[in-house]
This record gives sequence, C-alpha cells and structure tokens, in this order.
Amino acid sequence: MSAQDNLVQIASEVSTCTNCILHKTRIKSVPGEGPANAEIMLIGEGPGATENEFGRPFIGSAGKFLVELLAQAGLKRTDVWICNVVKCRPLDNRDPLPDELAACNLYLDRQIEAINPKIIITLGRISMGKFMPGVKITQVHGQMRRVGDRFVIAMFHPAAALHQAALKPVLLADFAKLPQQLEAARQELAKLSAISDAVVRVINDSLEEEPKQMKLL
Ligand code: URA
Ligand code: SF4
Repeated sequence: MSAQDNLVQIASEVSTCTNCILHKTRIKSVPGEGPANAEIMLIGEGPGATENEFGRPFIGSAGKFLVELLAQAGLKRTDVWICNVVKCRPLDNRDPLPDELAACNLYLDRQIEAINPKIIITLGRISMGKFMPGVKITQVHGQMRRVGDRFVIAMFHPAAALHQAALKPVLLADFAKLPQQLEAARQELAKLSAISDAVVRVINDSLEEEPKQMKLL
C-alpha cells in the first residue's frame, strides 16, 4: 500500500473509532492532513472546538499562529503533515488522559511509519512526552534530537503563546532555526542510510560467497 493509501485507511478507521471515551462527545474526529511525503510532521495535543466542528487540525486561533510560525521557516501549512496525539476533542480542551493517549497511539504510530518524516515537531508538553519522556520543555525547546530513525524538536504549544505573550518571541525564534535543522537532518539521515546500505551489501556479498567445502578428517 502506498503511504497515501495508508493514511486514507487510517483516517477512515479514525472516523468510526470507539476505542476511547472521547468518541462519545466528538462531532468530527480529526485524523490529520498534509502531503504523504512530508519531511516534517507536526504533532499537537488534540482537536479544539473549531477542529472538532470541521474535522481538520489547527484551523482555529492556535492554527492561525502556527501558520505564522511556519512562515518563519519559509514553510506553508501544505508543506508539512499536521496532526494530534488524540484524534477526538477532549471536552473543554482538557489534557488527554493516559488511557486516551494509549488508545489513540497506534493511529499516530501508523501515520509516522507511513509518512516517515525526517523531523517530528512536537507542539506542547503532551506530545513531547511520547518522544522525550521526563524532560522539561523549558530546557529542550527548539533543540533537535535524534530519536531512533529520525529527529525530534520539542516546541512550545502555539496556543500557550496566545495566553502567555512572553512565549511568542521564543516560538518565533525556535521556528526560524528550522531550515538549518532540516538541512542538518537531511545530511545526517543520508549518511545513516549510506552506512546501512553498505552493511547490507557486505552481508549480501558474504552470503553469496561459495560455501567452502567442509573437509572431513
Ligand atoms: N490545539 C491542538 O493541539 N491541536 C489542534 O488541532 C488545535 C489546537
Ligand atoms: Fe479513537 Fe483516538 Fe478518537 Fe479515542 S481519540 S475515539 S482512540 S480516534
């Protein structure tokens, strides 16, 4: 199945999912959107009121600020994949509960696998926790870290900057660093894939060698 077909399949499962209590109060689930071959994937917390109504991520006031942030990096929202750790709205925008995160996690993992982004940007504490458990966002925001086969950058949540004005310049500065980080990620991942190709070649060559006749003494 192509990445795009995979994402469509996941979205269709999400639209009828009843795996956690959030399905009871949703209007529309919000699977996420963007190009299947995006190099950058943004992961927020959960749909808010507007997202719940229209079934699309980050289209309310936090979304408007996110578009401004992406522009700092020379990006449009259609250049990146955007989704959330939970696909249905937690009422009153409360934090998703651990059992809700666990129930929805497989959809997110499947989306990450299908898209295979070079960089994941977590927006806010909750989605940061999936990749960097136990760290403080104030200490790591804007820094790129390798996590498995890709890189993760934790950013403050754009909605937080709408309530705390001091976070706004911090977010703008963090997003302005993104083009350089993306270039570094591309180079590092190209190096890693060259190394793994070389290892595969050595293994294949050694398997193809004539098996030596075992001498019976
Ligand atoms: N906040 C989020 O975390 N996600 C959205 O989709 C909208 C607001
Ligand atoms: Fe299913 Fe996720 Fe929605 Fe819960 S939040 S009902 S697990 S899609």
